[in-house]
Amino acid sequence: MKPEVLLMGPMYPPTMESLEQAFTLHKLWQATDRDAMLASVGERLSAAASTAFRGMDAATMAKLPKLKLVSHFGVGVDSVDVAAASARGITVTNTPDVLTEDVADLAIGLLLATVRRICAGDRYVRAGKWPQGAFPLTDTIQGKTLGIVGMGRIGRAIARRALAFNLKIAYQGPNRKTDLAWPYFADPVALAREADFLVAACPGGEATRALVSRAVLDALGPQGVFVNIARGSVADETALVAALQEGRLGGAGLDVFADEPRAPQALFSMDNVVLQPHVASATHPTRRAMGQLVVDNLLAFFAGKPLLTPYN
Ligand code: 8YV
Repeated sequence: MKPEVLLMGPMYPPTMESLEQAFTLHKLWQATDRDAMLASVGERLSAAASTAFRGMDAATMAKLPKLKLVSHFGVGVDSVDVAAASARGITVTNTPDVLTEDVADLAIGLLLATVRRICAGDRYVRAGKWPQGAFPLTDTIQGKTLGIVGMGRIGRAIARRALAFNLKIAYQGPNRKTDLAWPYFADPVALAREADFLVAACPGGEATRALVSRAVLDALGPQGVFVNIARGSVADETALVAALQEGRLGGAGLDVFADEPRAPQALFSMDNVVLQPHVASATHPTRRAMGQLVVDNLLAFFAGKPLLTPYN
């Protein structure tokens, strides 16, 4: 008999196939009556799998008395109540490392696209405007300073790429990294003052909510560009939109938003803003590897082996 797993939301289709093969799945998002499903199977389930959009809250955990594992699809676990899980002796696993390079690629892509107006230039050519006149000149990223908020795996991968683009690096985070010589600022406002461009690469959740505040955006200034591949919650989105509308911020390249899948309509007409639908890790090889980790953590758990990527 296949082990049973509570699946909170849909995953990458090839991952769904692997999950279907290895486990009997209880698909909570498809249940017409969620409570009825939890009441009928919740007593016996020891493992669940969650996603960024369909996480695992404390109330659901309380209905799963035997739950021991939440295998989460994604490196960011802000949709899982990790504190509640730890208190209940539930291990949460995530999918680090396998997505780092793709996410860092998109961060640099957004920086370049925003500063060099790549998307606006594309629209200009397609709209047939080129014969009527040259596209306006833009700023450069050459020789500028990139401030990185959150110097974890992804922050470091962004820094490696940035160096190849002749950017200087400075960073902010809860701790100075002893192996890094780049300027460190504990205060994000101080980092933004130093930086020409700022990229958020820190975890989401309460600890970083609105870390990129109005004061940070004002310190970045009218020539500054903010890139976010972390979580919408990391920036004060109302302050961000206002700073862009009022010309207090030069531009933004955003992959993540406060209320996904919705992005603020006010940004849609701005040529100094590049928008992406939360796709930094959305390549086939990376999503396959992330899904494999979700499956492999579940398999290890049911085989009584050590988990591959425990988070808590
Ligand atoms: C995905 C992510 O968008 O890993 C994360 O934390 O935000 C992304 O990789 C997410 O996992 C949902 O599909």
